Amino acid sequence: MRVIEIFERSPRGFLSHTLCYLSVNRTGNSAFNGMERPLYILDPGQREEIPEKGVGFVVSKSAAKPGYFLSLGEDVLCRIFEGTPPFRLSVEQGGFVSVSRNADLLRPIPTGILTVSDKGSRGEREDLSGPALVRRLQPLGAVIEATATVPDEIEEIVETLKEWSDGRGLKLILSTGGTGFSRRDVTPEAFASIAEKTAPGIGETMRSASMKITPKAMLSRSCAVIRGETLIVALPGSEKAAEECFAAIAPALRHGVEILCGWDSECGSRPHQHHHKRNR
Ligand code: MTE
Repeated sequence: MRVIEIFERSPRGFLSHTLCYLSVNRTGNSAFNGMERPLYILDPGQREEIPEKGVGFVVSKSAAKPGYFLSLGEDVLCRIFEGTPPFRLSVEQGGFVSVSRNADLLRPIPTGILTVSDKGSRGEREDLSGPALVRRLQPLGAVIEATATVPDEIEEIVETLKEWSDGRGLKLILSTGGTGFSRRDVTPEAFASIAEKTAPGIGETMRSASMKITPKAMLSRSCAVIRGETLIVALPGSEKAAEECFAAIAPALRHGVEILCGWDSECGSRPHQHHHKRNR
């Protein structure tokens, strides 16, 4: 679908815009061209339904669902509020939106982030990689439902992955750490013991992209497996390595989950819409 009109409802009537800037202001509220405004997603012909000072994004055939994300081109991501139509939007990631931009409805991906680190689990090292992954997952329409730090022990990793996959039904789990050669590094072994399928392309991609950055990339045994309807990916432990590897796999991650969960059966559509932004 596409954005077919952007308008503001003012006391003088409806003001149309061809381009606008969405952002999150200091109080955490959504802003339209720098002013805090209630934002709505609408179908054609619903203009009268929004209140004065409201801003409407009219899309062709919206099919908007509460809780879903609305991607407005490459950069901009909004969340659709609970309620009745016309649905309110909150800005999750700001940027410019113009009329005729592509608008995609993204089903939220329930996601978990597992930090595997002996020192982290003892509180001796601050976890920077887990929070970095949380930030970078947001543009994909991921909702972080679980985070944890466990030591480099197969049983503890396995127990958490099983609980998040089988118990809580998370669709995507990213781990960070424990992929190297040290005696304590056992993340890939824990993954192997719970895997129903392997997804070798993801590990290959992380390593080949990382080899352009450092030859030490070959020392990471990063990998990905599938268990039920959960895609589980092991990234290396340092913040830099985790971010670099995530950037390499981000463009295909959502599509992988959609196929795995049967949300999307068309591989040909919108190939590069949800680009991960490197320098935010
Ligand atoms: N990959 C990228 N992209 N960037 C990096 O800096 N560091 C490597 C490798 N992969 C690195 C990388 C190094 S030095 C190691 S030891 C391995 O990841 C394993 O990391 P881990 O044991 O923390 O999982």
